[in-house]
Amino acid sequence: MVSKINSCVLAGLSGHTATVETDLGRGLPRFDVVGLPDASVKESRDRVYAAIKNCGFVYPVSRITVNLAPGELKKEGPIYDLPILVGILAASKQLPEVPATAAMIGELSLEGKLRAANGVLCMAMHLKSAGIEEFFVPEENAAEAAMVKGLTVYPVRDIQQLAAHLKGETLITPAAHTEYKPEVPDSLDFVDVIGQETAKRALIIAAAGGHHALLIGTPGSGKSMLAKRLPSILPDLSEQEALEVTGVYSVAGMLPKGQAMIKSRPVRAPHHSISVNGLAGGGTHPRPGEISLAHNGVLFLDELPEFHRDALETLRQPLEDGEVTISRVSATCTYPSRFMMICAMNPCRCGYYGHPTKSCTCSEHQLREYRKRISGPLLDRIDIHVTVAPLPYEELEKRPKGETSAVIREKINRARKIQAQRYKDHGITTNAQLTPTLMEKFCTPDQKGQALLKAAYERLGLSARGYDKLLKLARTIADLEGSAEIQAQHIAEAVQYRILDREEIM
Ligand SMILES: Nc1ncnc2c1ncn2[C@@H]1O[C@H](COP(=O)(O)OP(=O)(O)OP(=O)(O)O)[C@@H](O)[C@H]1O
Ligand SMILES: [Mg+2]
Ligand SMILES: [Zn+2]
Repeated sequence: MVSKINSCVLAGLSGHTATVETDLGRGLPRFDVVGLPDASVKESRDRVYAAIKNCGFVYPVSRITVNLAPGELKKEGPIYDLPILVGILAASKQLPEVPATAAMIGELSLEGKLRAANGVLCMAMHLKSAGIEEFFVPEENAAEAAMVKGLTVYPVRDIQQLAAHLKGETLITPAAHTEYKPEVPDSLDFVDVIGQETAKRALIIAAAGGHHALLIGTPGSGKSMLAKRLPSILPDLSEQEALEVTGVYSVAGMLPKGQAMIKSRPVRAPHHSISVNGLAGGGTHPRPGEISLAHNGVLFLDELPEFHRDALETLRQPLEDGEVTISRVSATCTYPSRFMMICAMNPCRCGYYGHPTKSCTCSEHQLREYRKRISGPLLDRIDIHVTVAPLPYEELEKRPKGETSAVIREKINRARKIQAQRYKDHGITTNAQLTPTLMEKFCTPDQKGQALLKAAYERLGLSARGYDKLLKLARTIADLEGSAEIQAQHIAEAVQYRILDREEIM
């Protein structure tokens, strides 16, 4: 008699339905697990054996064969303990058959209690789309799985409780699905930043249009201070985006305890000593790297030239594709990595190149070497570059009050809505993602704007690569203002954020 129970395999963030088939046959008692299990799955045998005995069931004296199908997918980790145990009890008639519309996962303790697992949200999303109606998960993971609408999620504490449910004696109450609402993160406020209007505005435009930005400034000018306040102005995270972000954190085992869903945009600020694997993801048991943990949020690279060059090089493909593929011996997996990249750097090694009062002690050669550390292709993908000049004493003394993050955030949310609406049939959500074809359709400036664009191109010596970026930026500036047309003043402002096109600085 073969019992079949649905379960799930994850490869990266994508789920695949797995079936745990259990056969009790004649022959010498033994217990085999087949179907590409790794060592941790094989250990299930010992946990399942102990849990069956310790929960008052009878361990069948038979030749037990468990097949994890399909055989070509590698099964990892202890999450098949539960379907294996229930399969044995069903095959030996100690429990009723589990319906074909149900699935289960969970690691067991020797006493038959369930332990939390990683990646449960991604599994729930897959199972729902595969037509599964009921999902039995460890109690701790229930709220996370219940974020998926239309899936009945049963929180399972231990085997006795599940047995009573399957026998129809005492039913488990399904976890409640809560409606999604984005949250504003608890973060420092922009109102603390005195002056620095250009840099602030650049970050607002970056957040509004999803643009990558580079802040160049002397030490102490407030680059890190500005970046720390970025979370407070990022636009709301939509439900779809939140599911993606939560999926990444769930798979990485980084969901904060007691938090089922991540509801605001993540901001990751890895140290410049970070390795290629740390940034892009990888390792023997592949994990999402910083670029995936920043998915739908911000990757802040402070002191950009100090990062290892090979680490920066790995950013190129993800910046292009919005995802990263990690290859290892046994399989490859793909993680999403669509993030806004905000970088900060000093203008030179000593930090004072271009400072109004202090003088730079770098040689011509040192200056060039310092800037060469950031590769052209990376720079090529950055839409906004601004200098952050040291704050004049008068401004610091006067302490003029700027806008609060709440006010700025509203404007940004409005600009994002305009973009989402405009691009709803074109598969993108922000101006930063505009393709050349779409730019032709949506980014033609009005007449004065076109004249200014021509002048800027010819007289300011804008490069061709800068031209598209300038237009995208102007589109965002117009959207922030609620203007359907790209006008001359939008172009004029956008030119300010392309300093590296104009100066022989890089
Ligand atoms: N515009 C500002 N308004 C208020 N305080 C400021 C401003 N700029 C700098 N400061 C103060 O100076 C401190 C140092 O600024 P910050 O660390 O942001 O500089 P930085 O540009 O990142 O410098 P570095 O290049 O050395 O990393 C801040 O913590 C803050 O107290
Ligand atoms: Mg700093
Ligand atoms: Zn210098």
